[in-house]
Amino acid sequence: MTSPRERRSLTHVGGEARRSGQGVYASLLAHALDVESSIAGSESTSAATGPAEPAPSPAEAAARAHVHGFHTYPARMHPTTAARLVLGLSRRGDTVLDPFCGSGTVLVEAKRGGRRALGVDLNPLAVRLARVKTWTAPVPRRKRARELGRGIAGDVLVAGREARRAGAAAPPPVRAPEGFDPNARQRRIGKWFAPHVRRELESIAGAIDEVAQDDAELAEVLLMALSGILYKVSHRRSDTDPSWVERAVARGAAARLFGDRVEMIIAGLDDLARVPGPLPQVFEADARALDTLKLPPVRAVITSPPYAGTYDYAEQHRLRFDFLGIRHRAFTEGELGARRSFVANSAAATTRWRAGLGDAVSALVGALEVGGLAALVVGDSIAGRPCFADEDLRAVLDDRVEVVGWAWQARPKLGPERHLFGDRPKREHIIVLHRAR
Ligand SMILES: C[S@@+](CC[C@H](N)C(=O)[O-])C[C@H]1O[C@@H](n2cnc3c(N)ncnc32)[C@H](O)[C@@H]1O
Repeated sequence: MTSPRERRSLTHVGGEARRSGQGVYASLLAHALDVESSIAGSESTSAATGPAEPAPSPAEAAARAHVHGFHTYPARMHPTTAARLVLGLSRRGDTVLDPFCGSGTVLVEAKRGGRRALGVDLNPLAVRLARVKTWTAPVPRRKRARELGRGIAGDVLVAGREARRAGAAAPPPVRAPEGFDPNARQRRIGKWFAPHVRRELESIAGAIDEVAQDDAELAEVLLMALSGILYKVSHRRSDTDPSWVERAVARGAAARLFGDRVEMIIAGLDDLARVPGPLPQVFEADARALDTLKLPPVRAVITSPPYAGTYDYAEQHRLRFDFLGIRHRAFTEGELGARRSFVANSAAATTRWRAGLGDAVSALVGALEVGGLAALVVGDSIAGRPCFADEDLRAVLDDRVEVVGWAWQARPKLGPERHLFGDRPKREHIIVLHRAR
């Protein structure tokens, strides 16, 4: 039964979105979950600002696709959800923090909405990606990154053609990222790429290393573009599926894809740069230790913590870490809720998960100014047994905060989830906390 404080609205994804809590927050959250509505046609319900801010134009919506679609990232927040939460819970000029920023979806939307954005993630790839996706450097710098991308892609294509014409069967140039044992690197990545693909990838990476000697910032944009195409041309099925698959990749395809990816990110950044405002700051740090960053108090936290036992980011990015030469020990040890941590002893992992979630929530509440709001997007999952994310979250709240809004949407139960969840729905929730003291 629907209680008087609980309303329903139809959505196109998981069916019904339900909400409870104070009126304007409840409507905002249900709207934020209703992600099938078109971005261009939507307007935001604003709890913080009163009148709705203008909806993005179709051109803006297209560019949003560029910057958000630049690199895969498991469990990315839907950009529309992020945009509606940013616009609804903060004002222009406010500071918005995402302590689990992942690929930077909230930071991009905060920047686009004229907010100061702060991001934190323990995953070094996420941090680098989020920085690149919000790199609204001056026009000549972006132009230069585009030219370099085109130049590298063109050179690698030409070198490949010439080598084939000459019948040369030279071994691929093997890059040796500083501080990484080349033999160990070869053992880890050898089976994942066809020789001609590997040659192109190593040539691109080598050219980026040369750029880095003079200009580390531009090299970083190019390196993340390379990271963005890596799995597409590999034998790894996907980010979330590590199985080896036969994949026929044409000669020159890696170089072309790389060039396209650079164009894509620069097009997205050109659009993002139209909104004046400071560059988001992104920190590689543990969300449980936000106090060590000495951040200024923030008006809003908008974030999606890991879902218990669902993803394994350190594994999902391993091939990228190994190919690109990215150190990841602190992340592998400190990743919260990772699926691998539930395999050996799920009861102990559940205890650790709850403690970790508690520390992270306490830290993010501590980062809020009094009167500030935090929106957490959390999902039910199976981690040894069913985990109900709203219950886990409510259990760790302290008396500094009150829940002022809650919306949820049922998600399909897959395979064994049907049996494990029984009659209870599996849901994705957005919960808004208000820091009262
Ligand atoms: C659900 S994802 C966030 C995705 C993000 N909203 C986006 O749109 O890309 C959760 C994130 O938590 C990060 N994470 C896991 N453990 C962490 C920790 N101890 N401290 C900070 N971040 C952590 C993961 O690296 C991952 O990026």
